Amino acid sequence: MLKAVVFLYVFHIVYTGVFTGVMIRAILLKINYIRGLYVMNKLVKEIEQLKKEKNAVILAHYYVNDEVQEIADYIGDSYYLAKVAREVDAKTIVFCGVSFMGESAKILNPNKTVLMPDMSADCPMAHMAQVEKIEEMRENYDDLAVVCYINSTAELKCHSDVCVTSSNAVKIVKSLPNKNIFFIPDENLGRHVAKQIPEKNIILNKGFCHVHVSMTADNLKAIKEKYPKALVLAHPECKQEVLDLADYIGSTSGIINYATESDNEEFIICTESGVGYELRTKNPNKKFYFAGTKHFCPNMKLNTVEKVCHVLKTGKNEGGENEIWITTSVVEASLDIDFDYLFTELQDLNSLFQRMGRCNRKGKKPIDETNCFVYTKIDSNLISNGSRGFIDRTMYNLSKEAISEVDGVISES
Ligand code: 13P
Ligand code: SF4
Repeated sequence: MLKAVVFLYVFHIVYTGVFTGVMIRAILLKINYIRGLYVMNKLVKEIEQLKKEKNAVILAHYYVNDEVQEIADYIGDSYYLAKVAREVDAKTIVFCGVSFMGESAKILNPNKTVLMPDMSADCPMAHMAQVEKIEEMRENYDDLAVVCYINSTAELKCHSDVCVTSSNAVKIVKSLPNKNIFFIPDENLGRHVAKQIPEKNIILNKGFCHVHVSMTADNLKAIKEKYPKALVLAHPECKQEVLDLADYIGSTSGIINYATESDNEEFIICTESGVGYELRTKNPNKKFYFAGTKHFCPNMKLNTVEKVCHVLKTGKNEGGENEIWITTSVVEASLDIDFDYLFTELQDLNSLFQRMGRCNRKGKKPIDETNCFVYTKIDSNLISNGSRGFIDRTMYNLSKEAISEVDGVISES
């Protein structure tokens, strides 16, 4: 009897303690949540105010966090954002994406201030091709066109003939007069393009997006078994085994449009999870399942509302400068460029570089060293060797003074 009373007494104390602990935890969580909402609300108001003061707009790729997409003035895929970057009136563009997107915006708007909330947000695939390989290919094929996916560094774009996005790659490659095409840097997009244009010899390069290649046919089959009525929508950066199982293949906006226009109610999405925000906003009654478990681009997720606010306020963060710079010679050279050409049928970025004296195609004018982008690193050997300079993410950390110094050295060489 005594044992039972002691047991009940101890049980009561433990139960009450645990219950009280759980209650306190729940209350704290609620307080934290309300505090979070308050802070976010304050940040959003501050951002609105700063945008007016600085005459700024916020552009965000579909892959960034939901709350960043919520505060953006324009959300879209790479193609749409490049177009917006070129058309907006604002003096300052805050680009929430990865570095090749900020670079493209700056190339299209040399006179505008282009800020990125986090300068370390880079796309690994953008670096997955080599200039030496491009030059070797040009030696091997007389009529070679080097087609560069926009997800690439400005250096690679400078050495290419045509720049494409996932929404227009097939159309543009098809309309090229060249039979031999070297497609960089993404092997999967290149293969997808090649399959639709069998009349051309499309040589692939071994680049890939780690987010898209993480999705497999097995992932897809497992989800399909669970949701047999779901349609599979895949980005062309996915592996062939995934594309083979897809009902639709297209860019991020292609996927969103397809799901929105379709009568189907369930979809398996093979691309980065960020598109979920727009998919759910446009289709609140439809269901979306993501393939695989690694469908997050860590670089895109480096963009946060706090960093947007900070970069608007200060133009920089703890990491240093957040503004993308190109040299004055590029700014001057860009002034009389007909940008419309970039967005017409061929979207030939090369016309831009050609006019800047940067076309390196076989038999054409060699690269003019004075019209260079600032080199990626302050590497005195390369600079004093008169090497070509290019914009790259490491340059973001350079101060204005350092950049004009580098520019000066390159111009003298
Ligand atoms: P799009 O926005 O062109 O579909 O590209 C996807 C992507 O990987 C961007 O980083
Ligand atoms: Fe690069 Fe892939 Fe991230 Fe796009 S999703 S930025 S291609 S790593």
